[in-house]
Amino acid sequence: MTERRVAVIVDSRYGTTLALARAIAEGAESEGAEVRLCRVAIEEPEFSVDVEREDYQQAQAFYRELPRATAADLEWARGIVWGSPTRYGLMSTPLRAFIDEVAPLWRQGALIGKVGAAFTSTGGMHSGNEMTLLSLLMPFMQHGMVLVGVPHSVPELVATTKGGSPYGASAVTGFDGTRGVDDNELAIARALGARVARLAGQVRPEPSSVELAANRAPG
Ligand SMILES: Cc1cc2nc3c(=O)[nH]c(=O)nc-3n(C[C@H](O)[C@H](O)[C@H](O)COP(=O)(O)O)c2cc1C
Repeated sequence: MTERRVAVIVDSRYGTTLALARAIAEGAESEGAEVRLCRVAIEEPEFSVDVEREDYQQAQAFYRELPRATAADLEWARGIVWGSPTRYGLMSTPLRAFIDEVAPLWRQGALIGKVGAAFTSTGGMHSGNEMTLLSLLMPFMQHGMVLVGVPHSVPELVATTKGGSPYGASAVTGFDGTRGVDDNELAIARALGARVARLAGQVRPEPSSVELAANRAPG
């Protein structure tokens, strides 16, 4: 089994965060990684979402067919990339609920030494895009993971006029969603996926807290 195992965990309504997730998965696969692309739980009704929008209906037809992410996916992976739409300058509630759900892995220290990266999609240019990326990275540090961003050697990171950041992949879609995801944003997402895959193949698993505790146990 390849050590380049990457789990991409996505929450999305209108499909732009999903487009980034798919580009990240493509990038990881281009480096020979095995990829699991998974969604989080679907909570309905969502009062703030316009279910009549065509992009919503198109995106949901794909999104809902994705497997629901579980703790086992994170245990399987050497690299974890998670992302959600920006909600009030932070990650979405369904993704946050998933992160809370995998707290047993944190107690076990099961993700120590794996690599983690983040992505988001935001309506406005300066209304939480990078803050959301940072909020998505913080839980990885609590898990003892190694953070992966996008280096400035990726040409599209220098060229972008909307999303894409050293802190992760992102899109700026406009508040009505009409700006979509452009080629630079997709290229940055692919570069992030490829980098996570390469680094996931290099990290050496570190013992979990549980294993360390067992070794310290008397007798
Ligand atoms: C409840 C709610 C809160 C939002 N908060 C923000 C925000 O703080 N900043 C922002 O730029 N966009 C905000 N948006 C817009 C979404 O981030 C944006 O539409 C995003 O691109 C949707 O991603 P998706 O296509 O993957 O669903 C918000 C949208 C909703 C529904």
